[in-house]
Formats: sequence, structure tokens, C-alpha cells
Amino acid sequence: MEEKQIDETRQGEFFEISTPINTNKPQKKLLLESYGCQMNFADSEIIASIMAHEGFTTTRDVEEADLVLLNTCAIRDNAEQRIRGRLEFLNSVKKRKPAMMVGVLGCMAERLREQLLEEEKLVDMVVGPDAYRDLPRLVSQVEHGSKAVNVLLSREETYGEITPVRLDSNGVTAYISIMRGCDNMCSFCVVPFTRGRERSRDPKSIVEEATDLFNRGYREVTLLGQNVDSYKWNITAKGDIIDANEPTVNFAQLLASVAEVSPKLRLRFSTSHPKDMTDEVLITMSRYENICDYIHLPVQSGNSVVLKRMNRGYTREWYLDRIAAIRKYMPECAISTDVIAGFCDETDEEHADTLSLMGEVKYDMAYMYKYSERPRTLAERKFEDNISEEVKSQRLNEIIAMHMSCVAERTAAHVGKRHKVLVEGVSKKSQEHYYGRNGQNVVVVFPKNEAKMGQYVWVNALSSTAVTLIGEIDTYID
Ligand code: SAH
Ligand code: SF4
Ligand code: F3S
Repeated sequence: MEEKQIDETRQGEFFEISTPINTNKPQKKLLLESYGCQMNFADSEIIASIMAHEGFTTTRDVEEADLVLLNTCAIRDNAEQRIRGRLEFLNSVKKRKPAMMVGVLGCMAERLREQLLEEEKLVDMVVGPDAYRDLPRLVSQVEHGSKAVNVLLSREETYGEITPVRLDSNGVTAYISIMRGCDNMCSFCVVPFTRGRERSRDPKSIVEEATDLFNRGYREVTLLGQNVDSYKWNITAKGDIIDANEPTVNFAQLLASVAEVSPKLRLRFSTSHPKDMTDEVLITMSRYENICDYIHLPVQSGNSVVLKRMNRGYTREWYLDRIAAIRKYMPECAISTDVIAGFCDETDEEHADTLSLMGEVKYDMAYMYKYSERPRTLAERKFEDNISEEVKSQRLNEIIAMHMSCVAERTAAHVGKRHKVLVEGVSKKSQEHYYGRNGQNVVVVFPKNEAKMGQYVWVNALSSTAVTLIGEIDTYID
């Protein structure tokens, strides 16, 4: 069975930069591939922007590339194995084409550092997630025949004022990074080691980016952070105000200011953390029609003892209280989650608690994983990865089966209702159909008729598959 419903660790995706920004520099070709989470995809848009200023245009063809950059993920071992496979392939190409430069960027670069250059000799360049401004210098170093590395993590870098080049874009939906890093230290997780300390981006630059996107025709933005609820501007981690003359901004206030950009700009965000999600955020969401009724609230486990071992900072009861709060303020809100099967020492009873919690919440979407031990994490140092592969697989299958039975029910409940849908693109299966999503993030497919990309339409849902609604346009909104 598939490891999860939708693979977040997407297979390498190829990006296009249509026009080089600085045409004075010699034209060179870049192949940029991204792996991992949405934040990594957003980072690739920063990387593309920096490289476009250096005169690079992109290609999908490795034979044509002067420079290949892999923006990598280290979250689970299989994510890294996939990237290793790709690097070995690139190395074989390099034997024929020695001038081609290969760089590893992102979380795997940060985790393995010089090892990739020195021991494995797989690449020319290793660049961590906070060092992308240094790319032009590093590339030139490689062009002059040496290896290059910069894996310094920063306490300040947010790439705040760099305008991302929108890659692979439908011109309707876009990501906006609002913070970087993570201070949480969940015991299973490598992210605090690969992305460093948490820091928030200037709210002014976030609102400006959203406004600019709206003016260019975009109609949906997703605000990204590992833990958006701890977004804070002009406040220290301890809660002290940094500059008394400047306003302080928390996540609820940031949401409100982005929602004010235009009622026609839809707003989503990810990821919320159960220990930090406040009622203030939920109340703000319920006040603005354009903030979508959708929350990604990773639970990881339904058992409080496992949650303690995971260092998640909440219990099953606390988590269910947050679910109740969401339903109180937004009865129609969709909720999705992440679940880990077979964490260290997990008993059959503890696993059964995860199943029962999923049965209770009935998630609209879930990413489900087998636990994968990561070097340097708290879990690697303190616990034994003692659940066999076989048991992990069996538990994961039970988790997936439980989720699928709930999700079909959730999707079917949308049939017979009218949904406000943003038209995002042409359906992959039929040129005559568009697809879009309703506020709860359910994909809706319907005949095009007179609708246009980036327009809102009311769609009557006539039937459903497990995760998709099929309908027809009822009313054109504008
Ligand atoms: N910041 C987000 C998650 C980022 S990582 C949060 O706190 O929820 C995305 C998901 O990958 C996690 O929610 C977790 O379910 C999964 N994950 C992280 N480390 C993992 C590991 N070592 N093994 C298996 N899954 C893991
Ligand atoms: Fe990892 Fe936990 Fe931070 Fe999420 S909150 S990125 S799971 S340490
Ligand atoms: Fe992977 Fe790094 Fe994201 S480890 S999930 S790319 S933060």
C-alpha cells in the first residue's frame, strides 16, 4: 500500500524560469529539482530568483544543464535514499560531461555537510537552507575548480525582501514563507537540526508580497511555517517587547492583515501545532470569509504516553479539546493531520489509541508514515527503534484503512451541497473540465462552461469519489 495518501516528499519536480532577469550576464542553464515539504518548494522560488539574477535560465534536460541543484529533504531515510539515487545518476552523467556542476541544497545538505563532498565525492557544492544568498559566490568558486560549501545556520535570515520567482505556477495559487526554523525539538524530528532556530519574517514584507500577488492575478496564498502559531514579530520568545515604538504582531493578527488585502484573496496556512493553537486564531478565522475553513493539525499519536516520548507538549485530551474548539468556532472546518506508526516502544494498546482517535476526529486528509530513525535526534539518543519493519507496516496499514473509511464518509457528506470553488486549472483527466478546491480543500471537478482560471464559481456537488467531488457550475461569482 502507498505510504500515505498524497506523497508530500514529491518526486523531484522540474522548474522553469521563463525569463532571465539580468541579461548582461552570460546565459547558463540550470536544472533545479525540489524534494520535501512546501517550505522547500517555497525556498526553491527564492533560489530561482537568486540564480535568475546571475543569468541562469532553467531547463528540464540534464544534457543541457550547466548547473544541477537538488533542493533536498532529510525528514525520513527513504527521502534521502531517493536523493542519493538521483545523485548517483547525475554522477554518471558527469563522467561524460565533466563541466556540469552539481549542488546539494536544503535539509540533506545541512545534515550531511562536508560528508557529501569529502567522503562520498558525489557533488561539487553543499549549501544549507540559510546560505542561499551565498549561491553566486559558491557557484563561481566551483566554476574556478574548487569545491564549495556553506552550511551556516542563521538566527535572522528570512529572505524577507527577495521576491520569489513563481515556479511551476498556475498563476492562481502561491506559497508565502512567514517564518523559518523550529524550536520545538519533537524527539523524532530532524528539522530543528537542518533548519535551525525559529525566526519570523517582517509582517510588512508578508503583506506586501500577498498584495503584489493579488495585483498580479493570484487568488490564493498559503502562509508557511513549521509552527505558524508561534509566529511573532517584535516579541522575544519570553514574551518581552523588543522595540516599544513598533507594533507587535502574533499569528492571529498576521492572518487578519493578510485577509484584509482583499476579500477576493483566499488565505490558507500550514502547519498549526496543537500545543500552541489559540482560540484567538480560530476566532480570526471565523471572522473572515476569505480565510479558508481548513486546519492541518498533526497529532502524530493518539496516546498520551507516546506523545510524551515524542516530546510533543500535549496529551490526547488536550488535542481533542483543540478539535472541539475548532468545531465550536467553525462547525464546517476541515481538519487534516500527520500520523507516525511504530514509534519507539509503541505497544499494541498505544497504537489502538491512535486508531480510536482517528475514528473520533474523522480527518478530511492525513499524511501517514512509518517511524524512521534520524541521526542526532532525541529519539535516536534516548530510545531504541525497536518496532520491527513488519509491525510498523501492519500498523500503518491499519491507520490508512481507518483514515480511508472516515475520509470517504467526509467527502460524501459534501455531495448535494453548493461549494464556492476557486478555478485552479484544467483537469488532468479531461480537457473539458476544470478543477479547483472549496474552502475545506476538497478538490472539485466540473465542466468548464464559461468559467476562467482564477475565478470563483459556485459548484453543485453531484457525486464523489473517495477524495474528489464531481459537480457542475451553478453561479459565476466574478
Ligand atoms: N512542523 C510540522 C511537521 C514537519 S515534518 C509539525 O510539527 O507537525 C512533517 C511530518 O513528518 C511530521 O508531522 C511527522 O508526522 C513526520 N515525521 C517527522 N519526522 C519523522 C520521522 N523521523 N519518521 C517518520 N515521520 C516523521
Ligand atoms: Fe519537527 Fe516538531 Fe518542529 Fe514540527 S514542530 S518541525 S515535528 S520539531
Ligand atoms: Fe524535509 Fe526539510 Fe521540509 S527535512 S520536510 S524539506 S523542512
